[in-house]
Amino acid sequence: KNMSIIGVPMDLGQSRRGVDMGPSAIRYAGLLEKLEGLDYNVDDLGDVPISRPDSRHERQDGDLRNLKQVADASLKLAEMVDQEVSDKRFPLVLGGDHSIAIGSLAGISKHYENLGVIWYDAHGDLNSAETSPSGNIHGMPLAVSLGIGHERLTNIHGYSPKIKPENIVIIGARSLDPGEKKLIKERGIQVYSMHEVDRMGMTNVISEAIEYLKERTDGVHLSLDLDGLDPDEAPGVGTPVIGGLSYRESHLAMEILQESAILTSAEFVEVNPILDEKNKTATLAVGLIGSLFGEKLK
Ligand code: ARG
Ligand code: MN
Ligand code: MN
Ligand code: MN
Repeated sequence: KNMSIIGVPMDLGQSRRGVDMGPSAIRYAGLLEKLEGLDYNVDDLGDVPISRPDSRHERQDGDLRNLKQVADASLKLAEMVDQEVSDKRFPLVLGGDHSIAIGSLAGISKHYENLGVIWYDAHGDLNSAETSPSGNIHGMPLAVSLGIGHERLTNIHGYSPKIKPENIVIIGARSLDPGEKKLIKERGIQVYSMHEVDRMGMTNVISEAIEYLKERTDGVHLSLDLDGLDPDEAPGVGTPVIGGLSYRESHLAMEILQESAILTSAEFVEVNPILDEKNKTATLAVGLIGSLFGEKLK
């Protein structure tokens, strides 16, 4: 199997410095060495170029911070990812803040009738300019991919929507804004919050999610925000929320996903080495990627 790694040093979708160094931190934590020896032929394509805004924290066009730069980067990423999928290479995208999922999904979903998405995150990232408490685009990528939000974002790569609400499963949610909760109800999005993880256990949660997506999708993208894990395990994130998924639950989820063989693309986002402790969060990401690609069996 062929895999392509694409870094996206993006920090303009939120307001804390450092998450643009996420791709370097993940590579430095031994990503390529980890993937060597697994059954993949890996090609690291380097980083997507990101343009800098004239002044940071500038709110543009209806309270969307750095809209132009995020839109430009999303299109570049979409084109790259699109090419890799066309070439039958598994895209593994490294963030960067979670706004990059706009570009990943724009590039990938063209290739599927019904792309499924597993959103492993403390947050729903289902805000629009109207519901966002922050104006930060990293809180919006899932809404954007549903076709909700600024047209400069929803129309990236020339079509919208990218995904359907019934093809989404959110796992690990514990910080949802009122507008996000409303959208989840209205659109019937499947959510396994920490409540369900605690009650059912991760084995049942991830197995149910896999069965659900198997029935209705022809490809599945994993979008893993490191803040889905507990801040004790993943301190290097910009928007930590206590009470998160454990190291073991997360490895288990990756291993069961590997066994299911449903994934067709993946991204790991929100690693911020400036907020981290000795690159712990990037090292965790590399470990999870190892489990996702079959390390347990080696
Ligand atoms: N819901 C909050 C917002 O919209 C936080 C979003 C955090 N998103 C993330 N990808 N870490 O600003
Ligand atoms: Mn920066
Ligand atoms: Mn999050
Ligand atoms: Mn997120």
